[in-house]
Amino acid sequence: MPLTAAAPAPTTQADADEATAAALLNCLIREVSGPLGRVSRDAGRIVVRLARATLTARLPRPVHGPSLRLSGPFLRDGEEIGWYEVAEAVAAELALRTGTPNPEFLGQVVNSHEAMTAIVRERAAAPASPLLASEQSLILGHRYHPSPKSRQGLPSTWLPYAPEAGARFRLGLLAVDPALLCGEGDFSPLAGDGLLPVHPWQWRLLRGNPVLRKAISSGALLDAGPGPEAAPTSSVRTVLTADERVFAKFSLDVRITNCVRKNAWYELASAPALTRLLKPLLGADLLGEPAYRTVALADRGLYEGLGVILREAAPSESVVAAALAEPRAGFLPEDVDPLKYWTAYTRAVALPVLRLFFDHGVVLEPHLQNVLVLHDSSGLPSRAVFRDLEGTKLLPGPALDALEPAVRQSVTYDEERGWNRVAYCLFVNHLAEIAAALADRDPSCEPDLWRDLRGLLSELPRHPRLDGLLSGRPLPGKANLLTRWTRSPDRAARYVEIPNPMAG
Ligand SMILES: Nc1ncnc2c1ncn2[C@@H]1O[C@H](COP(=O)(O)OP(=O)(O)OP(=O)(O)O)[C@@H](O)[C@H]1O
Ligand SMILES: [Mg+2]
Repeated sequence: MPLTAAAPAPTTQADADEATAAALLNCLIREVSGPLGRVSRDAGRIVVRLARATLTARLPRPVHGPSLRLSGPFLRDGEEIGWYEVAEAVAAELALRTGTPNPEFLGQVVNSHEAMTAIVRERAAAPASPLLASEQSLILGHRYHPSPKSRQGLPSTWLPYAPEAGARFRLGLLAVDPALLCGEGDFSPLAGDGLLPVHPWQWRLLRGNPVLRKAISSGALLDAGPGPEAAPTSSVRTVLTADERVFAKFSLDVRITNCVRKNAWYELASAPALTRLLKPLLGADLLGEPAYRTVALADRGLYEGLGVILREAAPSESVVAAALAEPRAGFLPEDVDPLKYWTAYTRAVALPVLRLFFDHGVVLEPHLQNVLVLHDSSGLPSRAVFRDLEGTKLLPGPALDALEPAVRQSVTYDEERGWNRVAYCLFVNHLAEIAAALADRDPSCEPDLWRDLRGLLSELPRHPRLDGLLSGRPLPGKANLLTRWTRSPDRAARYVEIPNPMAG
């Protein structure tokens, strides 16, 4: 059946309320209640038996895959509740099941909901460039994160820099004493000799730093006026210059979903090194990060906080995969056959990721926000472009020896950790959401999509990890809710087992 859909209506406050509640329940079911065997489905409803209450939500269509589709009304012991009561019930269950309290949790959910609300209210017309429009279209965002839009601070502080509000602003420029400027690679597409671009939000956060003030008063750093105009991409801290010739990945000392977004010293150093290693393997299908620049003041917080990574441009007709899965963004092409779309999509996205892992020991992080997709004139996916070297790791092997010892440790993953990351990002975070987005239009197609992917994997050269998938071993699911609840760093996130939709 061809995909058809009317032009999407704008995202509303009711969507934001529902998405907040659904994301919490999605996570709870995936990470806690499902594994405990306390979830059942019947006649269009899902029932979650908590220790002290029973929650139910509507299941508007049958689901065959890791991404649930929950909608309101949400009921607690038969009575309708709002998103905040859902959050309270989830928090109470987590406190009980983990034995640890978390007094910050509800505040983070409220912060995320407040951000969605501000975005729904302030949203401007989408930019003309498909790439930038897709980068700025993630209003509801991650469906399996307890606070998908959380960012520290009041909306008035971040709205001027928010991609979802259509922000566009001028970067700042600092003229830096040549003895203090450091970096690697050709930085000229972003700033001329002796100049360091700064993100205006980060500048506001850092400018009171005493070491920085001293450097300014001594003339080691000078305000060199406004720099190029830029627009924030979906990660908030990475921007695209207005001419779309280059991305700049800045540090932002702000918690955005999981982490304070700082370019660590070893990430600055490993970006060009990984670019040299991976470009020969992926060519234009990797957005290289061949250069970085920062300033060596007597404060590591400033070295990292002012560090900027230069990332190669992407084709302006590419779109972020996450935009294809965002319900009302309208990027998933209409009038294409879901199975044909999926067949082309999985070939374009999964094959390079698996080839890099199996043949070269390279662990990409192909989650929905790190992959761009190109479509051909008939609306079918023709190519995938991968980005974000911060999340890219290597298995022990000869490639690692090419890296400086100082950065080697942060880039090395063992096989188990590497496979968990690849399999989670590719199958659970990414392909499952694309499958579900296709099934939202044609609810009967989902089993066929997973059968088709199983066929693709069974044609690849044998590998124990593939054999595991084909024999129905569970998929690894990153435990975003438990990670937040236990306040663990993102790099220490646990994985839970997720039923494998490709099981024979
Ligand atoms: N399905 C998804 N998986 C992961 N992140 C998502 C997803 N959907 C939206 N996001 C958002 O995208 C951002 C991903 O951040 P990530 O850590 O990959 O980027 P970054 O390293 O800060 O920047 P860049 O991607 O530009 O290198 C987060 O803000 C996250 O909430
Ligand atoms: Mg990213």
